[in-house]
Amino acid sequence: MTVAPQIQPALTGSFAGRRAVVTGAGSGIGLAIVTDLLARGADVIALDLAPGNVPDAATRVAVDVSDEAQIRDALASVAARGPVDTLFNNAGIGSTKNVVDCEPEEWDRVFDVNVRGTFLMCKHLLPSMLERGHGVIVNTASAAGLIGLPDRAAYCASKGAVIALTKQIAVQWASAGIRCNSVCPGTVDSPWVSRLLAEAENPAARREQLVGRQPMGRLGSPEEIAAAAIYLASDAAAFVTGIDLVIDGGITAG
Ligand SMILES: NC(=O)c1ccc[n+]([C@@H]2O[C@H](COP(=O)([O-])OP(=O)(O)OC[C@H]3O[C@@H](n4cnc5c(N)ncnc54)[C@H](O)[C@@H]3O)[C@@H](O)[C@H]2O)c1
Repeated sequence: MTVAPQIQPALTGSFAGRRAVVTGAGSGIGLAIVTDLLARGADVIALDLAPGNVPDAATRVAVDVSDEAQIRDALASVAARGPVDTLFNNAGIGSTKNVVDCEPEEWDRVFDVNVRGTFLMCKHLLPSMLERGHGVIVNTASAAGLIGLPDRAAYCASKGAVIALTKQIAVQWASAGIRCNSVCPGTVDSPWVSRLLAEAENPAARREQLVGRQPMGRLGSPEEIAAAAIYLASDAAAFVTGIDLVIDGGITAG
């Protein structure tokens, strides 16, 4: 098995003095973003349905990002810490149905979390960013927002919407000090994929199939996606806005 190389903090440097909100912070990619930010000295506010896994060094808040009232309460509860300059919209859920199989309720829930959640977090944090003339948003989209994958109708469509919303926000406020970009991971070895495998009839064969579609012959690690998200949030990306940064072991290149 090919193993993911160790990530070195590269160009991106310190986040001391910065305050970041991370959604979907309790697992996988979000947890890796939180861990990386804490190591770089950021003040981190970690939002999740279940934030129990997040290290104590971050402020943990239980919130469903699809619920506007919960977002208002969560942001009010941490307002005394001071303004937020960096937002990682990372919370997301999947769906393994095609258009015929997918019930409208499942379609709506995927859009509620992946798209409405991203919209609501931006809606409630952008005003203070605009007031201060500075803010950075990084949305976790997916390679599935750029290419069609079988049995991922709602998921592909929702991540395509996240990529489009990212570009819209980028052009809306590029001259107002706001940058907004997305990361588009390929298949990443997070608890999400562990759940997919656990549901498979033959988990080992399913894993082989997921690995087999990757030109690099391995899955990504949450830390590799976090490194790209941190880069986009950092000053090293000061001239970067509106992009969808693909980190996928080559899957969309084929
Ligand atoms: N794992 C992959 O292969 C992969 C690939 C491409 C994109 N992504 C995207 O990366 C992001 C993170 O995925 P992951 O692999 O770390 O998954 P994960 O399931 O390990 O973690 C997702 C986290 O989001 C939280 N969450 C779910 N719904 C929420 C809600 N309504 N409100 C608040 N928090 C909520 C969960 O509690 C969980 O802690 C998602 O947006 C996912 O679509 C993952």
